[in-house]
Amino acid sequence: MEWDSDLEDLSGGEEEEEEERLFAGGLGGPFSIGERLFPGLPVPASYGLAVTDAIEPDHPIIYVNEGFEKATGYRAEEVLGRNCRFLQCRGPFAHRRHPLVDSTVVTEIRRCLENGIPFQGDLLNFRKDGSPLMNKLQLTPIYDDDEVTHFLGIQFFTEANVDLGSPPGSFAKESLRAARFTSDSFYRPVLVEHVGNICREFCSMFQLSDEVISHKILSKLSPRDIASVGSVCKRLYQLTKNEDLWKMVCQNAWASETTRALEAVPAAERLGWRRLARELTTLEAVAWRKVTVGGAVEPSRCNFSACAVGNRVVLFGGEGVNMQPMNDTFVLDLNAREPEWKNVMVGSPPPGRWGHTLSCFNGSWLVVFGGCGRQGLLNDVFILDLDAKHPAWREVSGLAPPLPRSWHSSCTLDGTKLVVSGGCADSGVLLSDTFLLDLTIEKPVWREVPVSWTPPSRLGHSLSVYDSRKILLFGGLAKSGPLRLRSSDVFTIDLCKDEPCWRYLTGSGMPGAGNPAGIGPPPRLDHVAVNLPGGRIVIFGGSVAGLHSASQLYLLDPTEEKPTWRILNVPGRPPRFAWGHSTCVVGGTRAIVLGGQTGEEWMLSELYELSLASSAYNGN
Ligand SMILES: Cc1cc2nc3c(=O)[nH]c(=O)nc-3n(C[C@H](O)[C@H](O)[C@H](O)COP(=O)(O)O)c2cc1C
Repeated sequence: MEWDSDLEDLSGGEEEEEEERLFAGGLGGPFSIGERLFPGLPVPASYGLAVTDAIEPDHPIIYVNEGFEKATGYRAEEVLGRNCRFLQCRGPFAHRRHPLVDSTVVTEIRRCLENGIPFQGDLLNFRKDGSPLMNKLQLTPIYDDDEVTHFLGIQFFTEANVDLGSPPGSFAKESLRAARFTSDSFYRPVLVEHVGNICREFCSMFQLSDEVISHKILSKLSPRDIASVGSVCKRLYQLTKNEDLWKMVCQNAWASETTRALEAVPAAERLGWRRLARELTTLEAVAWRKVTVGGAVEPSRCNFSACAVGNRVVLFGGEGVNMQPMNDTFVLDLNAREPEWKNVMVGSPPPGRWGHTLSCFNGSWLVVFGGCGRQGLLNDVFILDLDAKHPAWREVSGLAPPLPRSWHSSCTLDGTKLVVSGGCADSGVLLSDTFLLDLTIEKPVWREVPVSWTPPSRLGHSLSVYDSRKILLFGGLAKSGPLRLRSSDVFTIDLCKDEPCWRYLTGSGMPGAGNPAGIGPPPRLDHVAVNLPGGRIVIFGGSVAGLHSASQLYLLDPTEEKPTWRILNVPGRPPRFAWGHSTCVVGGTRAIVLGGQTGEEWMLSELYELSLASSAYNGN
């Protein structure tokens, strides 16, 4: 398919064009640029993009964006190949245009399409559920030499205040028309008579300067839509190649915390934001590889905790021979030309422990919580600034601490708060609580998240942060009546809500629950959960029952309306074992699995790297 006569020259060939198409199908995200496009006017709830093939008979749809899917309730696969007029019918079972749809506007659309000229106007449409939508529709022909090859439709949807119950007589029709044609109405049709190039004299967007289009409009779109918009014409294609634009798009889509983490990876920087956005969206470059590093972590141990600080992997504590609790700190700098483990002399180390958690916050800070020490279970908190001139652990005595515990799960929120959930308390009792501690306050107070219901108590589960403030809990060894079973359940909670509450997302372990959506990961504990920019989560490893391979990767997007598990097939040599407490994500582009070879002996000079972007391969 030829989008633009010069496109091939500009893009460097079919391969890249194919890549753009791949990318455009990869992800989505809610967006709203109506406010920017129409300042001062009521903001449409969402807008859609639809591209039709103008050479095929009856203008079949060849692309719709996620905004279209969300606003109309129709999924892309339900509408591809069809003419857009189905939106004029009330719901999927209606076969006739609804009588309240203004036939003069439809006739005008037909005339514009026949003459290959742009159209702009308003008409009543219907969602899949039959509810009415006002559609401020802009149609733009795409020319290849003298021939119209495609039409681009932009739909600004808003709620329609239409009484569908009343008979579709002339009064209802007239009053609807009158309401739309008042001088200050947002829906006033603008029918434009102009034959020729789409980029002139029609859509106010195309009269704007490149700078304004890039900064005020394109930068607000999702990566997937930028890729689609770039396919429309030469000018937009060139604008969407700009690296600064892509950086803004990534920041909007992934939050600046993630982009900062990505910036810290030199190889990712070399790859460029456009390519990185594509690879992290499509996951086309994900691969396993084995890495051998120098140095040694001695004495040997298991049940330590590992965490990434920038491009460094930090390992703290663990269980030595004869269940000896360790309290030493090792650092592996992956930016070094020949990375090697180094035992770092850190002042005032916490008491030795294993089964604890180690998390990173505020850039270069580490926080240790709980675990099992010489005297039993712990609930103390220690922090360390790894970049301090003389690094030293400092105990933070948080008031009202949670019960001492081990094999709990932790994460950090906003780069400032430690979140601790579940684990195993004294006498083997499993816990189900969730606590927060603000580490930026001098005398912090632990706060238990007040909820009316908690997921069943458990240990060895994972916590992942998405949408900056939501937490996803997966798996673990969970209490199930009188038994303890490995779980594959997924729960989420929005910690910024006034009254946060746990929500069961998917799984099979809950009473009354059906099969997990999609091909879900088999139940497991002490697995690895990797957060991808944009909110998706990858699960692998851990202790899995039966003959299932622990290295199989499972992908879930909790931001989807009906989250569905997908299997991610990845080339390269995966580790045979991967444990949550000994794996960490470095710079948002690679998960480093320590000692995954035997599962028994911890070979810490052999690492397995799951690189999410191809940059992670080249050099660093
Ligand atoms: C790219 C494109 C997008 C369109 N989007 C819509 C739409 O969102 N809603 C709608 O009612 N009609 C839309 N139309 C118009 C219809 O597809 C159709 O052309 C119109 O109803 C006139 O043709 P008809 O009289 O044969 O139905 C779109 C047309 C094109 C080419």
